[in-house]
Amino acid sequence: MLEHDSVRAIEWVDDKLRLLDQRRLPSEVVYLDCADTQSAAGAISAMVVRGAPAIGITAAYAVVLAAGAHYRNHPSSWKRRIETDLAELARARPTAVNLGWALQRMKGVLASVEGAPEQALLAEARLIHEEDIAANRTMATIGAAELKGTAVLTHCNTGSLATGGYGTALGVVRSAFAAGNITHVYANETRPWLQGARLTAWELVRDGIPVSVLCDGAAASLMSQGKIGWVLVGADRIAANGDVANKIGTYGLAIHARHHGLKFMVVAPSSTVDMSVPSGKDIPIETRDPEEVLSCQGHRITAQGANAWNPAFDVTPAELVDLIVTEKGKIENPTAEAMRQHMEPDR
Ligand code: MRU
Repeated sequence: MLEHDSVRAIEWVDDKLRLLDQRRLPSEVVYLDCADTQSAAGAISAMVVRGAPAIGITAAYAVVLAAGAHYRNHPSSWKRRIETDLAELARARPTAVNLGWALQRMKGVLASVEGAPEQALLAEARLIHEEDIAANRTMATIGAAELKGTAVLTHCNTGSLATGGYGTALGVVRSAFAAGNITHVYANETRPWLQGARLTAWELVRDGIPVSVLCDGAAASLMSQGKIGWVLVGADRIAANGDVANKIGTYGLAIHARHHGLKFMVVAPSSTVDMSVPSGKDIPIETRDPEEVLSCQGHRITAQGANAWNPAFDVTPAELVDLIVTEKGKIENPTAEAMRQHMEPDR
C-alpha cells in the first residue's frame, strides 16, 4: 500500500467476508467474519461497515457467500433462491445508492454464469473493490489540485473505512496533505454516530495528518473566524440535477459555507451518481432508531419520555455545491445538463 493508505475495512479471507467493526473504533480494532448474507446485511444495517462505497463492496462480497451456499444445496435452482438474499441486502440501508449499484453489477455476472458461480462472482466483487480504490486515487489527485495551502473542514467519515480504501473526500485530504496543499483538517464530530470524532480522527492520526475535532455546532464559528478555505464531503447519492444526499448536517454546512464565501466540494465516485432520480427530493432518506439520538455511546443522555427525530442524511441543493469530483473529472457549479454530460458512457 502507498503512503497514507494503511487501513482496509473489508477483506475476503478464507472464503469469508471480514469486516473491521467500526462501531468499536477507536477503542478496539476488532474484526467480524460474515459467512452468510444475513450476517453481512445485518452488519450493514448495524453500522459495522458504513459509508456508501464500503456498503456496496460489502454487498458484492455477500452475493458470493449467498451464491456459494445456494449452489451447494440446490445446484439447479440456486439462481431463483438467491433472489431473497439480494432483496435482503438491497434493504439493508436505503440511501447509499452504491448498494443497489453493486448488486446490479453482481446480478449481471450471476445471470450469465454456468456451473459453480463462486469464482466468477468473487472476481467481480474484487474488481468492484479494486475499481473503487483506483477511483479514489484519481479523485484525490483532481480534488487536491483545487486546494492551495488552506485548512479544510470535513463531515462524517469519508476515508479508507468508508470505501474500498484511501477515501473520497478524505482521499483528497490525504493527497493534498502529501502535496503540501492542506495545512490542517477540522473534523466535525458528526452526531449521533460520531463518525468524525471516532473514525476520521483515528484515520488522520494514524497518517500523521494534523486534525482538530469540533462539535457539529461549532462549524459556523470556525468559518466566521476565517480558519478554513474549503468544506470537503462525500455523498451517499447524487441526483441527476447535482443535488447531494450525505450525512445529516451536510446541508447546514453548505449554507454556512456559502454565507461565509467558502468553497464546498463533494467527492464521490460515479457509482454514487444516480441518474434515475431527477432531484434530491426523490432520494429516499433513511430514518434510524430514535435511541441513537437519545443516547450517546450506549448511555442514555435524555429524559425518559422524550422522543427524537433521527434522519441519517440530508440533501444539499446543487446550487450550494461549488464542485463535484468523480473519477471522471470535475463538475463546477453542477446543473442537470453538466451532470448529464459528465455521466455520458464514453467519458
Ligand atoms: O451513516 P454512514 O456513516 O454510512 O454515512 C456515511 C456518509 O454520509 C459518507 O459521507 C458517505 O457515505 C460518503 S463515504 C465515502
